[in-house]
Parts: sequence; structure tokens; C-alpha cells
Amino acid sequence: MALEPERILLDDRVAIVTGAAAGIGAATARAMARFGAAVALVDRDQAGLRELAAALEADGATVETGVFDVRDEPEVVAFGTAVAERFGRVDILVNNAGGGFKADLLETNAKGQDALIRENFTSVTAMIRAVVPHMHAGSAIVNVTSIEAHRAAPGYAIYGAMKSAVASLTKSLALELGPRQIRVNCVAPDVIPTPGIGMEIAVKTPLPRRGQADDVAAAIVFLASDMAGFVTGSTLHVDGGNLAASGWRRGPDGYET
Ligand SMILES: NC(=O)c1ccc[n+]([C@@H]2O[C@H](COP(=O)([O-])OP(=O)(O)OC[C@H]3O[C@@H](n4cnc5c(N)ncnc54)[C@H](O)[C@@H]3O)[C@@H](O)[C@H]2O)c1
Repeated sequence: MALEPERILLDDRVAIVTGAAAGIGAATARAMARFGAAVALVDRDQAGLRELAAALEADGATVETGVFDVRDEPEVVAFGTAVAERFGRVDILVNNAGGGFKADLLETNAKGQDALIRENFTSVTAMIRAVVPHMHAGSAIVNVTSIEAHRAAPGYAIYGAMKSAVASLTKSLALELGPRQIRVNCVAPDVIPTPGIGMEIAVKTPLPRRGQADDVAAAIVFLASDMAGFVTGSTLHVDGGNLAASGWRRGPDGYET
């Protein structure tokens, strides 16, 4: 099959991206807009979101913004409705907002645990419930999980468990929404320099360079586009080969365990 470049474009698509003011979310918002989508961007960081929206609009993009915390379900529902009313539908939902803090399980109290669960899991199900009624055949959901969903996450046990939960949810939802021709997939990044994670990161991956937010954004655009039209329930690992490497580490004389 000849590849038609325009088939990967997101012209006329309406894409919601959460956590869009910084890091992977901002890179995704820029990529979606560059490929022609109207972008509806959510973040609790009002100043960061306004700055990004202004830059995208200056480049000719159509932008809607919602300044709220994705843990606030009434705000999530109101935003889904507002986007659907403005654009008539939603084609793409990227559940990217999330994060964690370093603490061993025995140091994490119930309040901290609840915050992690609401930030990384409950917000995702709330967004999906709010947005899917405005989707149609051909729409796509991309959830941002992590390499920590697929290996141990010492110091981030609850965060890792919630990312695993989202990976599992992705598979179940792919089956539930498959008959409606709505696809559901994940990207699972390894450490990517962002404001949330820090910018100084040692390179230990088989691919001998640092991953960038744009690498993750490109994978998200692929999964959201018709190029991935028969891909659902999958995880695309954007990790420079780190999960495949498992215990292997690149050393001066080749790989070592
Ligand atoms: N950077 C990495 O190394 C890495 C690796 C694997 C997975 N991830 C995942 O990728 C996603 C983005 O990570 P990042 O490193 O770009 O983060 P970041 O902290 O650099 O940016 C996250 C953005 O989301 C917003 N946000 C966070 N929680 C929110 C909430 N509850 N409501 C509204 N907005 C919220 C923040 O204000 C910020 O603008 C997260 O889900 C994270 O778990 C990141």
C-alpha cells in the first residue's frame, strides 16, 4: 500500500489534550496543531496554558482552553460539553495529565495515596466518561502511561500501580468501544526531560540519546491518526529500547547485566 502523507494529517480533527501547558502535553499540543487539528487544551497552570495557546494561535491554530484540575469531575464534564458545543464533536482525547512524588509505600499516607490515584487514574476515567459521548466512529483515545507500568517502580509504587491500571483500562476500553469504531491505546515513555521530571538525565538506553517530549508526541499523533486505524488496545513503548533491554545495560564493551 502506498503511503499517502495526508492520511496521517489531523486536518479537521478536534483534539483534547490534558496537562498541555508543559512537557509531553505541550509537545503533543504543538504536534497536533502542526498536523492540522483544532486543539482543546486543559491544564491547571493558567499562565503556562495561556502562553502556549497564544503561541499556537499566532501560528494559525484553532485553540480552546480549560483551566482546571482534571481531578475535578464537574469541571471535566463541563469542558467536554463546551468543546463538543463549540466544534460539534471530539475526535481525539489524550489523557496526559499526571505525575507522582518519590516516597516508599510505607512513607505514603492515605491522603498521599488518594492524591496519586485521583491524579493518575480517576481523572482518566472521568475524562473518558465525559468525552466519549461526543465521539464517533474513527475517534481515538491515547492514554499516557509509563515504563513504570511494565516494571517495578521503587519509590513510586502507587504511581506505577496507577499507570498499570490505566494500561489495563486501555485494553478493556478498547474492547468496549471497538464496536463503535473508537480506538484506545497507550504510549509508555521512559524518563523524558520535562519540567516535572527535571532536565538532566543520564543516557542508559540502547538508543544512545535522550528521549524527548517530541518523541512521545510523535507516537501519540500516530496512534491518534488514521495511520493507526487497525491498532487498538496496544501500548507503544517510547523508551529507546529500555523495556526490551530489561536488566541489560549498555557499557563501553557492549551490553552487560
Ligand atoms: N517525563 C517523564 O519522564 C515521563 C515518563 C513516563 C510517563 N510520564 C507521564 O507523562 C505525563 C506528562 O508528564 P510530564 O513529565 O510532561 O509532566 P510535567 O510535570 O512536565 O507537565 C505536566 C503538565 O500537566 C499539568 N497537570 C498535572 N497534573 C494536573 C492536574 N491534576 N490537572 C490539570 N493539570 C495537571 C501540569 O500543570 C503540567 O503543565 C504524565 O502522565 C507522566 O506520568 C512522564
